[in-house]
Amino acid sequence: MINLPGISNIERPVFLAPMEDVTDKAFRKICLEMGADLTVSEFIASEALVRNAEKSFLKMEKSFPDETLVVQIFGNNADVMADAAQMVEERGAAIIDLNFGCPVKKIVNKGVGAALLRDLPLMKEITRRVVDAVKVPVTAKTRLGWTTDDLVHHEVALMLQEVGIKALTMHGRTRSQLYSGEANWEKIAEIKQNPEFKIPLIGNGDIDSAEFALNCFENYGVDGIMIGRAAIGDPWIFKKVRAALNGEEYDEVVSIEERSRVCKEHLINTADWKNEKKAVLEMRKFYGGYFKGIPGFKPFKIKLMEANTFEEVFAVFDEVNEKLHI
Ligand SMILES: Cc1cc2nc3c(=O)[nH]c(=O)nc-3n(C[C@H](O)[C@H](O)[C@H](O)COP(=O)(O)O)c2cc1C
Repeated sequence: MINLPGISNIERPVFLAPMEDVTDKAFRKICLEMGADLTVSEFIASEALVRNAEKSFLKMEKSFPDETLVVQIFGNNADVMADAAQMVEERGAAIIDLNFGCPVKKIVNKGVGAALLRDLPLMKEITRRVVDAVKVPVTAKTRLGWTTDDLVHHEVALMLQEVGIKALTMHGRTRSQLYSGEANWEKIAEIKQNPEFKIPLIGNGDIDSAEFALNCFENYGVDGIMIGRAAIGDPWIFKKVRAALNGEEYDEVVSIEERSRVCKEHLINTADWKNEKKAVLEMRKFYGGYFKGIPGFKPFKIKLMEANTFEEVFAVFDEVNEKLHI
């Protein structure tokens, strides 16, 4: 159990990972309906927040009024991070998550995200200041280290625990690995094996099936797991994982009609929030995922990519339902 808002009575909680341009409120709603226990916003630049950038506020709107909102922020100026955390708290965040893991060049070149893995005193100071600035629990998400020769997972885990975070999410890769190779779950497990580490640990990296998820809990001893890329196009993964954790049967295969239904819902959620035109454009990056591996989908994908209105998109879904089979 992890004593955090929204999941304090859920055994072996399963999180949707924060993903820029993916985990907006439209997609979070889908994942919550599919059984994700907690979802995390896209990361938000603390500097943009304190400048009152409108786009940043959109990223922390709730997907529905009762959503337990987890907002992730990043930055490397402790004053700004503390101010940003207060703004996020005022806007209803139940948990504030600190990003110390983003490996992308344009981020680390600014000294933020995973760059803090090379400046642990600053990581500590930022965390301490944010923890002191807000009443809501603060969590952090990071990687094993900058390179495999320079792992700092033990040090970071104990350091962040000391300054008061309430849970740690560890992605089992280093910064230099970016997304290549495999997540090292042995290293994630090592954190938990240290008797001095007492806060909950959420493991992250490569979970793409219910079987994998079960293995993470059973063999690596984590308190929670976080699923990212596999949920894109397969939000049903949360249902499958929960069924597996409960020892229940589940269907590996998702029907064509169900894929069309959820993809349509995703589109409508986005349009309710933005507008039809923007939603139709934004959904283009998701169609492939929802119908991944379905024989004969290609010509329909082309039609979906060319559709500009709800009517056109829905007509393609009708055709897909009629002509494709799984
Ligand atoms: C498109 C994309 C955007 C991401 N954006 C964020 C982000 O904003 N904050 C963050 O902490 N991690 C971000 N990540 C990393 C994921 O949260 C997660 O740690 C990583 O994908 C590994 O988990 P997975 O193998 O389940 O995908 C992003 C990953 C992807 C693929």
